[in-house]
Amino acid sequence: MQQTIVILDFGGQYKELIARRVRECHVFSIIKPGDITPEEIRQIDPIGIILTGGPNSVYDEHSPHCDKAIFEMGIPVLGICYGTQLLAWSVGGKVEACSALSEYGKTKMQVNPESLLYHGMDPNQICLMSHTDQITVLPEGFNSIACTKNCQNASIQCAKRKLYGVQFHPEVESTPNGTQIIRNFLYRVCGAVGDYNLKDLEARLIADVKKQVGDGHVLLALSGGVDSSVCAALLSKAIPGQLHCVFVDHGLMRKDEGDEVEKAFSGKNLHFIRVNAKERFLTALKGVTDPEQKRKIIGAEFVKVFEAESKKLPHVNFLAQGTIYPDVIESGGSKAATIKSHHNVGGLPRDMQFTGVVEPLRGLFKDEVRIIGRQLGLARAYVDRQPFPGPGLGVRIMGEITPEKIEILQNADYIFREEMKKHRVKADQYFAVLTDTRSVGVVGDFRTYDYTVALRAVKTSDFMTCEFVQVPYKALGVMSTRIVNEVKGVGRVVYDITGKPPATIEWC
Ligand code: XMP
Repeated sequence: MQQTIVILDFGGQYKELIARRVRECHVFSIIKPGDITPEEIRQIDPIGIILTGGPNSVYDEHSPHCDKAIFEMGIPVLGICYGTQLLAWSVGGKVEACSALSEYGKTKMQVNPESLLYHGMDPNQICLMSHTDQITVLPEGFNSIACTKNCQNASIQCAKRKLYGVQFHPEVESTPNGTQIIRNFLYRVCGAVGDYNLKDLEARLIADVKKQVGDGHVLLALSGGVDSSVCAALLSKAIPGQLHCVFVDHGLMRKDEGDEVEKAFSGKNLHFIRVNAKERFLTALKGVTDPEQKRKIIGAEFVKVFEAESKKLPHVNFLAQGTIYPDVIESGGSKAATIKSHHNVGGLPRDMQFTGVVEPLRGLFKDEVRIIGRQLGLARAYVDRQPFPGPGLGVRIMGEITPEKIEILQNADYIFREEMKKHRVKADQYFAVLTDTRSVGVVGDFRTYDYTVALRAVKTSDFMTCEFVQVPYKALGVMSTRIVNEVKGVGRVVYDITGKPPATIEWC
């Protein structure tokens, strides 16, 4: 049986990062709510438990706690930030608000390399601190194994009971040797053997799909995004000839994208069906300017088109989805809530009966999905793709969506992406927006009154917050010149320098 680390969630923003770090160390990890019962833990039979951080104070009445019996199970525990305070407080220590200063940011720390947690490490380390409470009295049997200028108990242990805690965040890059600390916990404290790797996983996922589907037929809504593309590649390898992919082209894709998706997937071991539904979507969107209304219409049309297409395949009995682990975590892990909303719809398809849902990527993080995609030989263009919203350019055209505006945006966006590549500017998501603002310009002897295109490039790891990318002025200059010269209907180009919050990534 594969070794597992259970991460107990107490509301910290880095829980997924912790889970990914553990997996990067070749140990499988899952995230569970902090109030999990000892019995549930026993059933999982983990080799170790990690307690996440969180925004609360352990001594507040309503702060999240865990069953104290968890610390008596003989399973190694590593508390992180709030998790450490919770551990100390639960086994008899005292936690209080920092009397002098809260500690925030990169901080110098002295660690004790005699502890298994810091084995082989230099005593002088840097860590990311972010806390207003600290452990002021150690529980019995515990000793301090790291300190900073303002925090005597920056890390604690009771080696005999295999209980460890760090006040700082080893999972973030600002703690340069954080992964080493996590690795020490996994391999030196928990006895990990490193049995999690994505090559074996691919084989296992394929075997699982074969077992689940047998000689049945599977329907997948393929959008050309990373998740559904990797899902298609995996399924076509697992059950060649039994996969039917419906690609609904709503006409709001990026320039040439519909044709590219068709080229990439037709002729493979799957039945590829492209539905050209641009006219239908445009008719439904006629006169609509409200962003949420647009999303709803696109979602509803998508379901109708997909359902109509599915009905032409009566022998299909499974629905596949590119659900990934963050989708599962966000929906609280409940199966009912995890129907992935391909186009922001509440689920699909509503009135079709399936024997089961096939979700081979359900346990994987995005970066793992990309690795599996690469292993499967999927083109880099698909594996490394930036996220693209389900409603497509529908959320990037302000005001009414018309064929003319779609074409303008597709062409401007194409140039922007081309120049980003040429100038080697790195961004996690970047695109052009067609604003609803027109402005006066002059071309030759003529006055013009054309659209303003906004360019947006952001740096983010979770898409919940972002910073704008500092695209060099020289590159911006080239982009602007090319867009106004080459795209008819554009008279002005602006660059968006707003972060999230307060702005969102998309404009509408
Ligand atoms: P916002 O604009 O909310 O975007 O900051 C965060 C991330 O979500 C994507 N996004 C969407 N994806 N349907 C989607 O499938 C949508 O309606 C939608 N709106 C935003 C956005 O591209 C970014 O990656």
